Amino acid sequence: MLVSGGGTNLQAIIDAWKAGLIPHGEVAVVISNKKDAYALERARSNGIEALTLTRKKCGGQEGFENALAAALEERHIDLIVLAGFLSILSGAFTSRYPRRILNIHPALIPSFCGEGFYGLKVHEAALEKGVKVTGATVHFVNEIPDGGEILLQKAVRVYEGDTPEKLQKRVMRQAEWKLLPRAVEMVSKQIAEE
Ligand code: GRF
Repeated sequence: MLVSGGGTNLQAIIDAWKAGLIPHGEVAVVISNKKDAYALERARSNGIEALTLTRKKCGGQEGFENALAAALEERHIDLIVLAGFLSILSGAFTSRYPRRILNIHPALIPSFCGEGFYGLKVHEAALEKGVKVTGATVHFVNEIPDGGEILLQKAVRVYEGDTPEKLQKRVMRQAEWKLLPRAVEMVSKQIAEE
């Protein structure tokens, strides 16, 4: 699991895994590009290895990606899940893991996605546009930001007077935290049966 922030999607995966809903997978390691990400705390308090890798410490993007790849290889990781991960992964990195990197995006791709659409900005754009329905998308990651094959989507209603924060919470609760564990089990099962 690659994280950068609060880790509520990580928590949803941990809870699903502990409830036996991800029988074909396990959370082997949580890696953050932010040392103070609360997601790392969630990992540690669930007995999961928690690492921090920063571009700065690794000497730039290439060093970061090489260190990340080494950490994943060392642990024989089969599936990489971006859960609120806000660092760029180059095409050189993502092409090493075709259909093995998942991302959860807090909108119905192709709406409100791509360069600069992350976190609250996604919901601000949705409210700005005045959409009546938004949602979340789980997709495979390739070199195009939010451009990979779509796996799962779930729609969420937008209500009069919604703030970006209120909408974000509803999308997380009703869509993200449901879709990501389901997608992780789906792909883990496919990998196990290869
Ligand atoms: C949230 O904006 C979520 O919609 C997106 O990443 C951000 C942080 O998620 N997936 P998390 O709480 O760190 O999982």
